[in-house]
Amino acid sequence: MSKKNTATSSQAQLMDKIVSLCKRRGFIFQSSEIYGGINACWDYGPLGVELKNNIKQAWWRAMVYERDDIEGLDAAILMHPKVWEASGHVENFTDPLVDCKSCKLRFRADQIPEENLKLKKCPECGGELTEPRRFNLMFKTFMGPVEDEAHVVYLRPETAQGIYVNFENVYISMRRKIPFGIAQIGKAFRNEITPGNFIFRTREFEQMEMQYFVRPGTDMEWFEKWREERFKWYLRIGIKPEKLRFHQHGPDELAHYASAAYDIQFEFPFGWQELEGIHNRTDYDLSRHQQFSGKDLSYYDDEIGQKYIPYIVETSAGCDRTLLAVLVNAYDEEDTGKEIRTVLRLHPFLAPIKAAVLPLVNRENMPEIAFEIYKSLKPHFKVFYDDSGSIGRRYRRQDEIGTPFCFTVDSQTLQDGTVTVRDRDTMKQERIHKDEILNFLKEKITF
Ligand code: GAP
Repeated sequence: MSKKNTATSSQAQLMDKIVSLCKRRGFIFQSSEIYGGINACWDYGPLGVELKNNIKQAWWRAMVYERDDIEGLDAAILMHPKVWEASGHVENFTDPLVDCKSCKLRFRADQIPEENLKLKKCPECGGELTEPRRFNLMFKTFMGPVEDEAHVVYLRPETAQGIYVNFENVYISMRRKIPFGIAQIGKAFRNEITPGNFIFRTREFEQMEMQYFVRPGTDMEWFEKWREERFKWYLRIGIKPEKLRFHQHGPDELAHYASAAYDIQFEFPFGWQELEGIHNRTDYDLSRHQQFSGKDLSYYDDEIGQKYIPYIVETSAGCDRTLLAVLVNAYDEEDTGKEIRTVLRLHPFLAPIKAAVLPLVNRENMPEIAFEIYKSLKPHFKVFYDDSGSIGRRYRRQDEIGTPFCFTVDSQTLQDGTVTVRDRDTMKQERIHKDEILNFLKEKITF
């Protein structure tokens, strides 16, 4: 096998290992599994929901709580259908689709070799391909009991529009002045032609978006600031710098609303792929909403005594993709000399469980003391009590799900009240008094 093939197959194995760990340890399950599953839909299990919530919290902290210039929002998924006409999604949010008349496989025309497209030849079976047709990615449904064109509504394909239509509500109610931003986390839906790579591209996913409203002429300056800021956030959640890079959009890649765009990409086992888009959306969105709603969305800037439609710089991250990147980044198999241990080296703030409390053996009052410690930590952190199996096996179980610390009650605890603290990454152990555990965790579990 060539070097390249070996690398590819080890990367494919890595994805398989992550998918398998996710299922085995309660991170991610296939949706509706007992019915055979539904394509490209995934459910977050008990540990997955913790990890996802922690990622969202890390984003919200950095984007809302730590700043003075950003407000939060949680807009409805269903919006007035005119929103999607104004946004350009009805007209432009399409992918070119081709079908194979023989094997019935479906492809995005821009993702198959040009030669196949020219010869109308299926890249899988060689059968005849249909002419490309434009396929709109928005999911349609009906509002109320009547299923006709007049009652069509869409599941939002991006959370951004909920922010634009609330621009005026937010700046007036919060007495904001430009520049300021609005942040939102929420579900988005796209009827993707080729979903795949586990949770990387799905039809239902979560976005973490922030729209920053600025004075025209300052937009490129803010665009540059935001792309640096957002890159730093990925480093802050522990992504290795060598796994991150920017990709600047060329003129043929720009979305219909953008005048400039960068992607932040991560090196997934299946290649470099987008995690987040930073876009200069100009005054496109507010102008279009002004035009379609008939409502004046201009802003009076009293600093310069001018009225204008604000420009928007957008940072748009995928929560599920970030979670996959976090898992890929954290997954490690370490040869301890005795065995290969699987360890998720997650940032402590992101780890689903912050600490496990373990009695060394199930006698001599150790379980009772350990359980008391566990109960005292529970109001503050997501912690876990485990008294089953050998201590080595219990440590391994915690390593595999990324728990940064294990506190073990042993015979010395009975004498002096100290416990061992085991560090997930180094496996080193030190002793601290059991009354210091809460402060120890408060110091270590920070963002
Ligand atoms: N409001 C701008 C916007 O939606 P986008 O580049 O289409 O821009 C932003 O999407 C982010 O949303 C992407 O970088 C990605 O992380 C996430 N995303 C988009 N489509 C997705 C899908 N089908 N599955 C999972 N995440 C997706």
